[in-house]
Amino acid sequence: MSDVVALLQSHRSIRKFTDQPIPQTVVEDLVRAGQGAATSSFIQACTVIQVAQGDKRDQLAALGGNQGYVSEAPVFLVFCADMHRHKLACEQHKAPMQSGFTEQFLTASVDVSLFAQNVVVAAESLGMGICYIGALRNNVEAVSDLLGLPDLVYPVFGLCLGYAAQNPEVKPRLPMSEVLKQEVYGDTQDTAVMADYDQTVRHYYETRTGGTKEMSWTEQISGMLQKEARPHMLPFLKKKGFLLK
Ligand SMILES: Cc1cc2nc3c(=O)[nH]c(=O)nc-3n(C[C@H](O)[C@H](O)[C@H](O)COP(=O)(O)O)c2cc1C
Repeated sequence: MSDVVALLQSHRSIRKFTDQPIPQTVVEDLVRAGQGAATSSFIQACTVIQVAQGDKRDQLAALGGNQGYVSEAPVFLVFCADMHRHKLACEQHKAPMQSGFTEQFLTASVDVSLFAQNVVVAAESLGMGICYIGALRNNVEAVSDLLGLPDLVYPVFGLCLGYAAQNPEVKPRLPMSEVLKQEVYGDTQDTAVMADYDQTVRHYYETRTGGTKEMSWTEQISGMLQKEARPHMLPFLKKKGFLLK
């Protein structure tokens, strides 16, 4: 197994960081690594906003579910899907932009995810830890205002970056037979394999929490899916000029 493959398979989110600072040159190297990701039709639809520790960062933490590590991480980046500069390119060439397509929303969001994951892998390869922060979308409009995002730009997620002050176990992933299929999806699920996985996840949570959390994967997911999923997102995205057709 290559070092890169081993690194990828040893990922775990870090939610407690040391005070060791990350030099800005390193942040820029990480962002350059992000820019190296493949990008749909060369659209390069990702803009990263770095927010220093302090009042604005604390506001982001409050807007993103009061997760303390958002305030505490040495570096915090907000990854935005950005079609605004594409509008400017069209204006420059006096070619009115056809915007609002679902496909454009998808390609921009995929671009951001690939960019961000490159940043993550680069950071982890340098010995840092990370935690994505999707909870910024809890209050997406306020986050957007705080960051001064124009139309055709939305915050996809944040990212905490720093050196780990904890060493959590790797979280067990779904069995291979669930995620790698041959030729067709198939209509049967191997319930024994899933039951086994449920047991593995239950054991993982028990160990990690000293017995305070006992939950299988299917329990966690079915519980989560009883709640609405940020229903304010669609009106917000439409207001920003996405998902109109
Ligand atoms: C897009 C995205 C958003 C996430 N948002 C949060 C978040 O707001 N808070 C948090 O603590 N973890 C967040 N996570 C981390 C996931 O909970 C974590 O990746 C998952 O439980 C698997 O654990 P692992 O990363 O340790 O393997 C997010 C992960 C992703 C990919």
